[in-house]
Amino acid sequence: MEKALLLYSGGLDTSVMISWLQEKLSLSVSTLTLDVGNTDLNAIAAKAESLGAYPVFVHDAKDQFADRFIAKSIMSNGNYEGYPLSTALARPLMAEEAVHYAHKIGAKYIVHGSTGRGNDQVRFEVSIKAFDPSIEVLAPVREWNMMRSDEIEYAKTHGIPVKLDGKYSIDENIWGRSVEGPDIEDIGKGLPEDVYEWIVPPWKAEKNVEITLAFDGGIPTEMNGEKMKLSDLIMKLNALAGSAGIGLIDHVENRVVGLKSHEVYECPAAAVITHAHRYLESLILNRNEAEVKMMLDWHFSKFVYGGLWHDPVMNAINAAEAEFNRDITGEIRMKLFGGHIFNEGAWGSTFIYNRDLINYSSSKFDQRVSKGFIEVYGNATVHSHNRKTAVDQEMAGSYFDL
Ligand code: ARG
Repeated sequence: MEKALLLYSGGLDTSVMISWLQEKLSLSVSTLTLDVGNTDLNAIAAKAESLGAYPVFVHDAKDQFADRFIAKSIMSNGNYEGYPLSTALARPLMAEEAVHYAHKIGAKYIVHGSTGRGNDQVRFEVSIKAFDPSIEVLAPVREWNMMRSDEIEYAKTHGIPVKLDGKYSIDENIWGRSVEGPDIEDIGKGLPEDVYEWIVPPWKAEKNVEITLAFDGGIPTEMNGEKMKLSDLIMKLNALAGSAGIGLIDHVENRVVGLKSHEVYECPAAAVITHAHRYLESLILNRNEAEVKMMLDWHFSKFVYGGLWHDPVMNAINAAEAEFNRDITGEIRMKLFGGHIFNEGAWGSTFIYNRDLINYSSSKFDQRVSKGFIEVYGNATVHSHNRKTAVDQEMAGSYFDL
Protein backbone atom coordinates (compact mmCIF):
# COMPACT_ATOMS: atom_id res chain seq x y z
CA MET A 1 0.00 0.00 0.00
CA GLU A 2 1.35 3.47 -0.87
CA LYS A 3 1.83 5.78 2.07
CA ALA A 4 0.49 9.29 2.50
CA LEU A 5 1.42 11.84 5.15
CA LEU A 6 -1.47 14.13 6.01
CA LEU A 7 -0.99 17.52 7.66
CA TYR A 8 -3.71 17.03 10.24
CA SER A 9 -5.44 19.81 12.18
CA GLY A 10 -8.13 17.72 13.88
CA GLY A 11 -10.91 19.66 12.17
CA LEU A 12 -13.71 18.31 9.99
CA ASP A 13 -11.94 18.58 6.61
CA THR A 14 -8.78 16.74 7.55
CA SER A 15 -10.66 14.16 9.66
CA VAL A 16 -12.90 13.26 6.74
CA MET A 17 -9.72 13.15 4.66
CA ILE A 18 -8.21 10.30 6.69
CA SER A 19 -11.11 7.98 5.80
CA TRP A 20 -11.43 9.33 2.28
CA LEU A 21 -7.76 8.66 1.47
CA GLN A 22 -8.04 5.15 2.87
CA GLU A 23 -11.32 4.39 1.13
CA LYS A 24 -11.07 6.14 -2.22
CA LEU A 25 -7.34 6.05 -2.91
CA SER A 26 -6.45 2.94 -0.89
CA LEU A 27 -3.62 4.75 0.84
CA SER A 28 -2.08 4.02 4.19
CA VAL A 29 -2.46 7.32 6.05
CA SER A 30 -0.08 8.79 8.56
CA THR A 31 -0.72 12.18 10.16
CA LEU A 32 1.45 15.06 11.30
CA THR A 33 0.20 17.78 13.60
CA LEU A 34 2.43 20.70 14.49
CA ASP A 35 1.74 22.90 17.45
CA VAL A 36 2.45 26.51 16.51
CA GLY A 37 0.07 27.78 19.17
CA ASN A 38 -3.03 26.68 21.07
CA THR A 39 -3.10 23.14 19.78
CA ASP A 40 -4.21 20.30 22.00
CA LEU A 41 -1.76 17.77 20.60
CA ASN A 42 -2.94 14.87 22.76
CA ALA A 43 -6.58 15.19 21.78
CA ILE A 44 -5.68 15.55 18.10
CA ALA A 45 -3.36 12.54 18.18
CA ALA A 46 -6.03 10.43 19.85
CA LYS A 47 -8.54 11.44 17.19
CA ALA A 48 -6.16 10.59 14.33
CA GLU A 49 -5.45 7.21 15.88
CA SER A 50 -9.12 6.46 16.35
CA LEU A 51 -9.63 7.13 12.63
CA GLY A 52 -7.01 4.55 11.73
CA ALA A 53 -4.05 6.76 10.93
CA TYR A 54 -0.66 5.22 11.60
CA PRO A 55 1.88 6.39 12.60
CA VAL A 56 0.53 9.56 14.18
CA PHE A 57 3.14 12.28 14.65
CA VAL A 58 2.71 15.33 16.87
CA HIS A 59 5.34 17.94 17.33
CA ASP A 60 5.53 21.05 19.51
CA ALA A 61 6.99 23.55 17.05
CA LYS A 62 6.38 26.75 19.00
CA ASP A 63 10.03 27.54 19.64
CA GLN A 64 11.10 26.63 16.13
CA PHE A 65 8.31 28.85 14.83
CA ALA A 66 9.22 31.77 17.09
CA ASP A 67 12.98 31.58 16.71
CA ARG A 68 13.29 30.89 13.00
CA PHE A 69 10.17 32.42 11.49
CA ILE A 70 8.58 35.05 13.73
CA ALA A 71 12.01 36.45 14.64
CA LYS A 72 12.77 37.16 10.98
CA SER A 73 9.37 38.71 10.51
CA ILE A 74 9.91 40.98 13.53
CA MET A 75 13.23 42.13 12.08
CA SER A 76 11.53 42.85 8.74
CA ASN A 77 8.33 44.38 10.19
CA GLY A 78 6.49 41.62 8.30
CA ASN A 79 3.16 42.98 7.19
CA TYR A 80 0.96 42.33 4.16
CA GLU A 81 -1.31 45.14 3.03
CA GLY A 82 -1.71 46.33 6.63
CA TYR A 83 -1.81 43.23 8.84
CA PRO A 84 1.08 41.26 10.33
CA LEU A 85 1.98 38.08 8.45
CA SER A 86 1.03 35.09 10.59
CA THR A 87 -0.54 32.16 8.72
CA ALA A 88 1.95 32.85 5.94
CA LEU A 89 4.86 32.43 8.38
CA ALA A 90 3.75 29.05 9.72
CA ARG A 91 3.11 27.31 6.41
CA PRO A 92 6.74 26.99 5.28
CA LEU A 93 7.63 25.42 8.64
CA MET A 94 4.77 22.95 8.25
CA ALA A 95 5.94 22.13 4.74
CA GLU A 96 9.51 21.57 5.95
CA GLU A 97 8.37 19.22 8.68
CA ALA A 98 5.97 17.43 6.37
CA VAL A 99 8.81 16.60 3.98
CA HIS A 100 10.98 15.51 6.89
CA TYR A 101 8.31 13.12 8.26
CA ALA A 102 7.36 11.91 4.78
CA HIS A 103 10.96 10.87 4.22
CA LYS A 104 11.05 9.18 7.59
CA ILE A 105 8.17 6.85 6.72
CA GLY A 106 8.81 6.64 2.98
CA ALA A 107 5.58 8.38 2.00
CA LYS A 108 4.96 9.01 -1.67
CA TYR A 109 2.28 11.63 -0.99
CA ILE A 110 1.90 14.67 1.25
CA VAL A 111 -1.71 15.68 1.76
CA HIS A 112 -2.96 19.07 2.98
CA GLY A 113 -6.43 20.41 3.71
CA SER A 114 -6.29 23.73 1.89
CA THR A 115 -8.94 24.80 -0.58
CA GLY A 116 -8.29 25.89 -4.15
CA ARG A 117 -9.24 29.48 -3.37
CA GLY A 118 -6.57 30.48 -0.89
CA ASN A 119 -2.91 31.20 -0.40
CA ASP A 120 -2.06 28.22 1.76
CA GLN A 121 -2.16 25.69 -1.09
CA VAL A 122 0.47 27.83 -2.82
CA ARG A 123 2.63 28.11 0.29
CA PHE A 124 2.53 24.38 1.07
CA GLU A 125 3.11 23.20 -2.45
CA VAL A 126 5.91 25.57 -3.45
CA SER A 127 7.86 24.72 -0.29
CA ILE A 128 7.25 20.97 -0.48
CA LYS A 129 8.30 20.86 -4.12
CA ALA A 130 11.35 23.00 -3.39
CA PHE A 131 12.52 20.46 -0.82
CA ASP A 132 11.63 17.34 -2.74
CA PRO A 133 10.19 17.57 -6.25
CA SER A 134 9.53 13.82 -6.28
CA ILE A 135 6.86 14.01 -3.59
CA GLU A 136 3.32 14.18 -4.92
CA VAL A 137 0.99 16.61 -3.24
CA LEU A 138 -2.69 15.87 -2.81
CA ALA A 139 -5.24 18.53 -1.89
CA PRO A 140 -8.54 16.60 -1.68
CA VAL A 141 -10.69 19.66 -0.85
CA ARG A 142 -9.77 21.04 -4.28
CA GLU A 143 -11.01 17.89 -5.98
CA TRP A 144 -13.60 16.06 -3.99
CA ASN A 145 -16.36 18.60 -4.51
CA MET A 146 -17.99 17.99 -1.14
CA MET A 147 -19.98 20.81 0.42
CA ARG A 148 -19.81 21.17 4.15
CA SER A 149 -23.10 19.30 4.49
CA ASP A 150 -21.68 16.44 2.37
CA GLU A 151 -18.65 16.28 4.63
CA ILE A 152 -20.85 16.06 7.72
CA GLU A 153 -22.86 13.31 6.07
CA TYR A 154 -19.67 11.46 5.10
CA ALA A 155 -18.37 11.84 8.65
CA LYS A 156 -21.59 10.43 10.12
CA THR A 157 -21.60 7.39 7.84
CA HIS A 158 -17.90 6.70 8.52
CA GLY A 159 -17.96 7.00 12.30
CA ILE A 160 -15.98 10.22 12.33
CA PRO A 161 -16.79 12.31 15.39
CA VAL A 162 -18.24 15.59 14.20
CA LYS A 163 -17.59 18.31 16.69
CA LEU A 164 -19.03 21.10 14.62
CA ASP A 165 -16.18 23.54 14.41
CA GLY A 166 -18.53 26.48 14.34
CA LYS A 167 -19.38 28.79 11.53
CA TYR A 168 -15.94 30.30 11.03
CA SER A 169 -12.80 29.06 9.35
CA ILE A 170 -10.06 29.95 11.80
CA ASP A 171 -6.34 29.69 11.48
CA GLU A 172 -4.27 30.55 14.51
CA ASN A 173 -0.74 30.42 15.72
CA ILE A 174 1.05 32.35 18.47
CA TRP A 175 1.63 35.33 16.15
CA GLY A 176 -1.99 35.81 15.14
CA ARG A 177 -5.49 34.50 14.62
CA SER A 178 -7.36 34.89 11.36
CA VAL A 179 -11.05 34.36 10.88
CA GLU A 180 -13.03 33.84 7.68
CA GLY A 181 -16.62 32.81 7.17
CA PRO A 182 -19.98 33.50 5.57
CA ASP A 183 -20.90 36.18 8.12
CA ILE A 184 -17.67 38.01 7.42
CA GLU A 185 -17.95 37.65 3.65
CA ASP A 186 -21.00 39.91 3.60
CA ILE A 187 -19.31 43.25 3.06
CA GLY A 188 -22.62 45.03 3.61
CA LYS A 189 -22.51 44.22 7.31
CA GLY A 190 -20.34 44.98 10.31
CA LEU A 191 -18.44 42.20 12.00
CA PRO A 192 -20.36 39.87 14.30
CA GLU A 193 -19.07 40.21 17.88
CA ASP A 194 -18.50 36.49 18.25
CA VAL A 195 -15.48 36.58 15.94
CA TYR A 196 -13.27 38.06 18.63
CA GLU A 197 -11.54 35.60 20.87
CA TRP A 198 -8.13 36.96 21.76
CA ILE A 199 -9.13 40.58 22.05
CA VAL A 200 -11.59 42.53 24.13
CA PRO A 201 -12.93 44.82 21.39
CA PRO A 202 -11.48 48.33 21.88
CA TRP A 203 -14.92 49.83 22.50
CA LYS A 204 -15.29 47.55 25.51
CA ALA A 205 -11.71 47.40 26.73
CA GLU A 206 -11.29 49.18 30.03
CA LYS A 207 -7.89 47.84 30.97
CA ASN A 208 -4.90 50.12 31.05
CA VAL A 209 -1.78 48.02 30.51
CA GLU A 210 1.84 49.10 30.94
CA ILE A 211 4.42 47.19 28.91
CA THR A 212 8.19 47.61 28.78
CA LEU A 213 9.99 45.68 26.08
CA ALA A 214 13.75 45.32 25.76
CA PHE A 215 15.14 44.48 22.32
CA ASP A 216 18.51 43.00 21.52
CA GLY A 217 19.59 43.00 17.87
CA GLY A 218 16.00 43.55 16.68
CA ILE A 219 14.40 40.83 18.82
CA PRO A 220 12.45 41.38 22.06
CA THR A 221 14.19 39.51 24.87
CA GLU A 222 12.63 40.96 28.01
CA MET A 223 9.16 42.06 29.05
CA ASN A 224 8.48 44.17 32.12
CA GLY A 225 11.95 43.43 33.45
CA GLU A 226 11.75 39.68 32.99
CA LYS A 227 13.95 37.82 30.49
CA MET A 228 11.88 35.41 28.43
CA LYS A 229 12.25 33.18 25.43
CA LEU A 230 10.50 34.62 22.42
CA SER A 231 7.58 32.17 22.26
CA ASP A 232 6.70 32.80 25.94
CA LEU A 233 7.02 36.55 25.59
CA ILE A 234 4.64 36.51 22.63
CA MET A 235 2.02 34.36 24.36
CA LYS A 236 2.09 36.49 27.53
CA LEU A 237 1.93 39.68 25.53
CA ASN A 238 -1.03 38.37 23.52
CA ALA A 239 -3.04 38.06 26.72
CA LEU A 240 -1.97 41.43 28.16
CA ALA A 241 -2.36 43.48 24.99
CA GLY A 242 -5.52 41.63 23.98
CA SER A 243 -7.16 42.73 27.23
CA ALA A 244 -6.51 46.37 26.22
CA GLY A 245 -8.13 45.94 22.80
CA ILE A 246 -4.87 45.97 20.82
CA GLY A 247 -4.43 44.26 17.46
CA LEU A 248 -7.88 43.98 15.94
CA ILE A 249 -7.69 44.34 12.16
CA ASP A 250 -10.64 44.19 9.79
CA HIS A 251 -9.16 43.77 6.36
CA VAL A 252 -9.85 43.02 2.70
CA GLU A 253 -6.83 41.49 1.02
CA ASN A 254 -5.62 40.60 -2.46
CA ARG A 255 -4.79 36.91 -2.48
CA VAL A 256 -2.05 35.32 -4.57
CA VAL A 257 -4.69 33.61 -6.72
CA GLY A 258 -6.22 36.96 -7.63
CA LEU A 259 -9.28 36.82 -5.37
CA LYS A 260 -10.21 39.37 -2.74
CA SER A 261 -11.18 38.19 0.72
CA HIS A 262 -12.50 39.86 3.84
CA GLU A 263 -10.96 38.52 7.04
CA VAL A 264 -10.52 39.54 10.63
CA TYR A 265 -7.14 39.35 12.30
CA GLU A 266 -6.38 39.32 16.00
CA CYS A 267 -2.70 39.97 16.60
CA PRO A 268 -2.13 41.77 19.94
CA ALA A 269 1.51 40.77 20.51
CA ALA A 270 2.44 41.29 16.86
CA ALA A 271 0.91 44.77 16.94
CA VAL A 272 2.81 45.82 20.07
CA ILE A 273 6.14 44.26 19.08
CA THR A 274 6.02 45.70 15.56
CA HIS A 275 5.12 49.12 16.93
CA ALA A 276 8.04 48.98 19.38
CA HIS A 277 10.47 47.64 16.78
CA ARG A 278 9.59 50.36 14.29
CA TYR A 279 9.95 53.02 16.98
CA LEU A 280 13.42 51.79 17.90
CA GLU A 281 14.37 51.67 14.22
CA SER A 282 13.33 55.30 13.87
CA LEU A 283 15.71 56.24 16.68
CA ILE A 284 18.63 54.09 15.55
CA LEU A 285 18.81 53.85 11.74
CA ASN A 286 19.92 56.75 9.60
CA ARG A 287 17.80 57.97 6.72
CA ASN A 288 19.59 55.94 4.06
CA GLU A 289 19.29 52.77 6.07
CA ALA A 290 15.63 53.46 6.82
CA GLU A 291 14.82 54.01 3.15
CA VAL A 292 16.50 50.86 1.91
CA LYS A 293 15.11 48.82 4.78
CA MET A 294 11.57 49.94 4.00
CA MET A 295 11.88 48.47 0.51
CA LEU A 296 13.44 45.27 1.81
CA ASP A 297 10.64 44.93 4.40
CA TRP A 298 8.11 45.24 1.60
CA HIS A 299 9.84 42.55 -0.46
CA PHE A 300 10.20 40.27 2.57
CA SER A 301 6.47 40.48 3.23
CA LYS A 302 5.44 40.09 -0.36
CA PHE A 303 7.58 36.98 -0.87
CA VAL A 304 6.53 35.40 2.42
CA TYR A 305 2.86 36.13 1.80
CA GLY A 306 3.19 34.63 -1.66
CA GLY A 307 4.62 31.34 -0.39
CA LEU A 308 8.23 31.93 -1.43
CA TRP A 309 9.89 31.54 1.99
CA HIS A 310 12.25 28.94 0.54
CA ASP A 311 13.30 30.98 -2.49
CA PRO A 312 17.05 31.75 -2.40
CA VAL A 313 16.28 35.48 -2.62
CA MET A 314 15.14 35.19 0.99
CA ASN A 315 18.68 34.32 2.10
CA ALA A 316 19.89 37.63 0.72
CA ILE A 317 16.96 39.58 2.17
CA ASN A 318 17.33 37.95 5.59
CA ALA A 319 21.09 38.58 5.63
CA ALA A 320 20.57 42.27 4.88
CA GLU A 321 17.73 42.51 7.41
CA ALA A 322 19.98 40.93 10.06
CA GLU A 323 22.60 43.59 9.33
CA PHE A 324 20.02 46.38 9.65
CA ASN A 325 18.88 44.90 12.95
CA ARG A 326 22.34 44.50 14.43
CA ASP A 327 22.08 47.72 16.44
CA ILE A 328 18.32 47.66 17.14
CA THR A 329 18.89 47.34 20.84
CA GLY A 330 17.12 49.31 23.53
CA GLU A 331 14.09 49.57 25.70
CA ILE A 332 10.66 51.05 25.15
CA ARG A 333 7.82 51.61 27.56
CA MET A 334 4.25 51.75 26.28
CA LYS A 335 0.81 52.30 27.67
CA LEU A 336 -1.94 50.25 26.03
CA PHE A 337 -5.45 51.52 26.28
CA GLY A 338 -8.66 51.28 24.27
CA GLY A 339 -6.96 49.64 21.31
CA HIS A 340 -4.19 52.27 21.13
CA ILE A 341 -0.50 52.16 21.92
CA PHE A 342 1.05 55.22 23.57
CA ASN A 343 4.81 55.61 23.95
CA GLU A 344 6.03 56.38 27.43
CA GLY A 345 9.76 56.54 26.77
CA ALA A 346 12.63 54.82 25.01
CA TRP A 347 16.24 54.28 26.06
CA GLY A 348 19.31 52.85 24.36
CA SER A 349 23.00 53.37 23.78
CA THR A 350 22.82 52.98 19.98
CA PHE A 351 20.28 55.79 19.42
CA ILE A 352 21.45 58.39 16.92
CA TYR A 353 18.46 60.58 17.75
CA ASN A 354 20.08 63.61 19.33
CA ARG A 355 18.07 66.11 21.25
CA ASP A 356 20.88 68.67 21.21
CA LEU A 357 20.80 68.86 17.44
CA ILE A 358 17.07 69.47 17.12
CA ASN A 359 16.49 71.71 20.15
CA TYR A 360 15.59 75.38 19.32
CA SER A 361 17.96 76.89 21.78
CA SER A 362 20.96 74.71 21.25
CA SER A 363 23.92 75.77 19.14
CA LYS A 364 25.21 72.30 18.38
CA PHE A 365 23.85 72.53 14.86
CA ASP A 366 24.72 75.75 13.04
CA GLN A 367 21.43 76.76 11.44
CA ARG A 368 23.10 79.26 9.15
CA VAL A 369 24.49 76.50 6.92
CA SER A 370 20.95 75.52 5.88
CA LYS A 371 20.63 78.59 3.67
CA GLY A 372 23.47 77.54 1.35
CA PHE A 373 22.26 73.95 1.45
CA ILE A 374 18.81 74.91 0.15
CA GLU A 375 20.31 76.93 -2.67
CA VAL A 376 22.32 73.99 -3.96
CA TYR A 377 19.72 71.37 -3.17
CA GLY A 378 16.93 73.31 -4.90
CA ASN A 379 18.93 74.13 -8.04
CA ALA A 380 17.35 71.55 -10.31
CA THR A 381 13.79 72.42 -9.30
CA VAL A 382 14.20 76.19 -9.25
CA HIS A 383 15.92 76.32 -12.62
CA SER A 384 13.55 74.00 -14.41
CA HIS A 385 10.24 75.11 -12.96
CA ASN A 386 9.61 77.78 -15.58
CA ARG A 387 10.59 75.63 -18.51
CA LYS A 388 7.48 75.41 -20.65
CA THR A 389 6.75 74.44 -24.21
CA ALA A 390 4.33 76.52 -26.24
CA VAL A 391 1.64 73.86 -25.75
CA ASP A 392 2.11 73.85 -21.95
CA GLN A 393 1.75 77.61 -21.88
CA GLU A 394 -1.42 77.51 -23.91
CA MET A 395 -2.92 74.84 -21.66
CA ALA A 396 -1.87 76.64 -18.52
CA GLY A 397 -3.58 79.74 -19.94
CA SER A 398 -6.76 77.90 -20.64
CA TYR A 399 -6.82 76.45 -17.11
CA PHE A 400 -6.40 79.87 -15.62
CA ASP A 401 -9.19 81.26 -17.84
CA LEU A 402 -11.71 78.80 -16.47
N1 ARG B 1 -5.57 35.51 4.74
C1 ARG B 1 -4.58 34.93 5.56
C2 ARG B 1 -3.41 34.52 4.75
O1 ARG B 1 -3.55 34.18 3.60
C3 ARG B 1 -5.11 33.81 6.44
C4 ARG B 1 -5.57 32.58 5.73
C5 ARG B 1 -6.11 31.44 6.58
N2 ARG B 1 -7.23 31.89 7.35
C6 ARG B 1 -8.28 31.16 7.76
N3 ARG B 1 -9.12 31.78 8.51
N4 ARG B 1 -8.47 29.93 7.43
O2 ARG B 1 -2.31 34.50 5.23
